[in-house]
Amino acid sequence: MTLKELLPSLGLSLPDRLTPVVWPRTTRKVAGDIEIGGVSLAGIAGRYGTPAYVLDELDLRERCREYMRAFAGEEVAYAGKALLTRAVARWVGEEGLSLDVCSAGEMAVARAIGFPAERVILHGNAKTPADLAYARDYRVGRIVIDSLGEVARIAAEAERPQRVLLRIVPGVDAHTHTALTTGTEHQKFGLSLATGDAAEAARRVLGQRALRLCGVHAHIGSQVSRFGAYEQELRQLVAFLAGLYAEHRITVPELNIGGGHAVAYVDGDDTFALDDFATRIRRVLRFECQANRLPVPRLTVEPGRAIAARAGVAIYHVVSVKRAGGRRLVAVDGGMSDNPRPSLYGAHYSVVLLGRKADTAQERMTVVGRHCEAGDILAEDAPLPADVRPGDLLAVPASGAYHFPLASNYNLVGRPPLIAVRGGRARVLVRRETINDILARDIRET
Ligand code: LLP
Repeated sequence: MTLKELLPSLGLSLPDRLTPVVWPRTTRKVAGDIEIGGVSLAGIAGRYGTPAYVLDELDLRERCREYMRAFAGEEVAYAGKALLTRAVARWVGEEGLSLDVCSAGEMAVARAIGFPAERVILHGNAKTPADLAYARDYRVGRIVIDSLGEVARIAAEAERPQRVLLRIVPGVDAHTHTALTTGTEHQKFGLSLATGDAAEAARRVLGQRALRLCGVHAHIGSQVSRFGAYEQELRQLVAFLAGLYAEHRITVPELNIGGGHAVAYVDGDDTFALDDFATRIRRVLRFECQANRLPVPRLTVEPGRAIAARAGVAIYHVVSVKRAGGRRLVAVDGGMSDNPRPSLYGAHYSVVLLGRKADTAQERMTVVGRHCEAGDILAEDAPLPADVRPGDLLAVPASGAYHFPLASNYNLVGRPPLIAVRGGRARVLVRRETINDILARDIRET
C-alpha cells in the first residue's frame, strides 16, 4: 500500500505555526506534513501504525549537552523514570550524564548496554529485596536512603563498602500538582528534618562499617518552575550538613538537589531558563557553604522531563467524530493507556492535524481516547479544522517524558511502539505490544 492510499488526502498543508517550545528541535513543517529528524510523521504512521511515540534522538542529546554545559564540573544524572530504553540509556551515557534509577527493571536496562555502574544512583521509597540484590550485583555507585529501616537493610546487603546518600525532606512546597509534590512533610518520600529522622539516619549510617555517607539528596517535586523553591531546599540541605559537622565533625562530598525542572506543554506555559537556574543555584550553594564554613560539595541535578519531554511526539488516527453536550468529540485510537497524564495531573496538550490541508476554519474540540472511561480525555478545547474526520492523523507534541513509562494495556489494548528518528532514518526502539504478547502472559488453563 502506498502512503497516498493510507492517507488519502496527503500533500495538503498544516496550520501555519507550530509552537517551537513544545516541538522537537529538528521539527520541520513540509507540505501537509511534519518531519522530525528528517522523517515524515505521516510516513511513520503509515509504516508502523498508530498510536506511536516518535522520539527525536538529536533533541534528546542536545538537551543533555545543554545540561552538561550549564552544570560543567558538576554532575547531571538523567532520571530514567521519565523514559528509559537501551537506546536512551546509551545516548545519555554517551553524553556524559549519570543515571537515576529506581527499580531492578531500570537497572537491567542500564546494565544491558553497559552503563557504568559507578554513575548509577538508586532511588526509591520502597526498594524491594530484589532491587537491592540487583544493585549489589550491578555494583551501583550510590544508593539513596529513604527511611530509617533501610540503613540496616542496605548495610546487610553490601558486599563491599557502599556509598549512600540520605534523602532529606526539606519541608519545601514547590507549588506544583499535589501528586508531584515531594518536598513537604505530608508525603511518602525521605527522612524528615523536623522529626529528627534525618539526623538519626546519619548516626546509623556512620555506625555501619559497610556504608560510606557520601552526601545528601532532596527532590521537591516535578514540573517546578520557581527557582525560589530550589533555593529554599538548598538552604535546608546545607543547614543539615552544618548539623552533621557540628555533631560528627564530618563533611560530605555530594549534594543532590533532585530534578523537577518544568517544561512547556502548550503555548504560553512557563519555561525554565536553565542557564540562569544553574548560575543562581551554584551561587546560593557557594554562599550558604561559606556562611556555614563548609567546603562546597559537588552538586548533582537529576532532570528527567526536561531531557526527554520535548523530544517525543505521539501520533494517532482519528477513529470517530461526534457531537455531545454541544461539544465536538474527536476520538482517537489511543488515549489514557498511552497518556494518562491529563487524567492523573490535569495536564494540557496541544493537538495538530497531520497529513492533509485543512481548508475549513478551526473549531475548539475535545480529543478523547478509545477507553471505557468518561475521563479518558487527551485534550480539551483543542483548535482543529472543522472538517476533521475518521482516518485523519493527529500529532501531540511534548510526549517524550512519562508517556511511554506510564503506559498500560488497559482494555487489553497493546502499548504503542517507540520509534527513534535521526538523519532521515526511523528505527524501532521498542516494538508495539501485540495481542499475542497479551495472550502470552495469560496462562492457558488445561
Ligand atoms: N529525581 C527523583 C528522586 C525523582 O523522584 C524524580 C521524579 C526526578 C528526579 C525527575 O523529575 P523530573 O525532572 O522528571 O520532573 N509521572 C509524573 C512525574 C513524576 C516524577 C517522579 N519523580 C508526570 O508525568 O508528570
